[in-house]
This record gives sequence, C-alpha cells and structure tokens, in this order.
Amino acid sequence: MDGQGVTRRKVLAVLGAGAGGAGAAAGTGSLGALMSVASARASTRVTPAGYTFPGPAPDRMLGLSPPVACTPGTRAQTAGPFYTPGTPRRWNLREPGTTGEPLVFEGIVLTPDCQPVAGAVVDVWHCDERGRYDNEGFRYRGHQFTDAAGAFRFETIRPTRYRGRTAHIHVRVQGETTRLLTTQVYFPDLEAANGRDFIFRDDLVMRLGRAGGGEWRGRFDFVLAPA
Ligand SMILES: [Fe+2]
Repeated sequence: MDGQGVTRRKVLAVLGAGAGGAGAAAGTGSLGALMSVASARASTRVTPAGYTFPGPAPDRMLGLSPPVACTPGTRAQTAGPFYTPGTPRRWNLREPGTTGEPLVFEGIVLTPDCQPVAGAVVDVWHCDERGRYDNEGFRYRGHQFTDAAGAFRFETIRPTRYRGRTAHIHVRVQGETTRLLTTQVYFPDLEAANGRDFIFRDDLVMRLGRAGGGEWRGRFDFVLAPA
C-alpha cells in the first residue's frame, strides 16, 4: 500500500492542517491546538482548512428529515496521518473506472438543540477500494457546504480496510459559529473488523442501506458544539 510511508509532505499536511498549509500551526501538532485555531478563525469566515465560508449551498432537494434529538455532540476522533488541506469543492468523488462499490454518504449538520447548521463545511477523505490513500492528489477527497437545511451529500465509493483499520470515512465539519469537529464514520455491516479496531466506536456508525442491489446509501448526522 502506498499509504504507509511518512513523507515530509504528509507531516506538513497534518501539522499545517489548522492553517490551510500556511504553517501557522506547525510545531504544535496537537488536535487541541488545531481546534483552538478553528475556534479563533470561525469569526473570520475562514475554516481551519483554509476554506472561506460562502454561506449556504444551493438547495439540492435532499429531503433528509432532521433527527428528533441531537445531544450529545458527535464524538471527535483523530484525523490520522493522511489529511490534505485545500481539497476541491465537489460532491462527486467517484473516480472513472473504479471497482469500488458506489456509496452515497449524506446527512445533516446540526447544533446540540437540533437546529440545522447552514453553510457548514464538510470535508471528507477516505482510502480507495484497495485501501490506498492518495497523498499526492485529491482522489477521494473533497469538501462542500451544507444547504439551508444543513444537509450534505457526497457520491463516492465504499472505502476498504487497511493496515488493521476497519473501513471508515474521515470527516472534518465546521460551521461559522461552531467548533471544528474532526472524526471518523464507520459501517454497520463490518462487525468483525469493527470489533478488532481499537479506534472504532459504536456511536460513529452510519445508518446504511442498499436498495435493489444498487448503490449503498449511508447517513450520518453531525452535531457540533458552539465555538
Ligand atoms: Fe484512515
């Protein structure tokens, strides 16, 4: 797998994640420091990954019903070593010729009292169908902004397990007035692999379905604490 080597670029990507690669956070290397940067930047309309908040995305008519209860906030998890800032703004991550199983990954971004967070950035990254991360380009990496209902949707593929990790999707989410949330989302139909993964948590499992042997559809709602 080409995701195992730790290159200078990867280290910089992790350390500089809070500053859009500009290096302002370099030298700290801690998630706490990144979140402090995130909080400080929430009021400047720039996300910790360097994206400018443009306001809510156009309504995509996703039709997702909000949940009834939204507390507590979504659990944070490590970004791991393969985050790359500055991803393309897009909703379709599927690569031409992929043999991965098609997945729609969607949900709503909410406050702890169940109000939608419109215009929140949702930045995702995951490995491909062979367990490889693209650490040079942006394959299976992208961000978008939630619409007025707080909804997002990515069309991608199911990532596979790698290096002992169960399959997961990395996510960074932040609204203009919320803290940055960095976490991982898991699949419910991989019980054995999930059970062997020391990072896996039950409360980060998406709701997953598949109609008629077609594409998978997974939903996870993110609840963000105020800044
Ligand atoms: Fe990962």
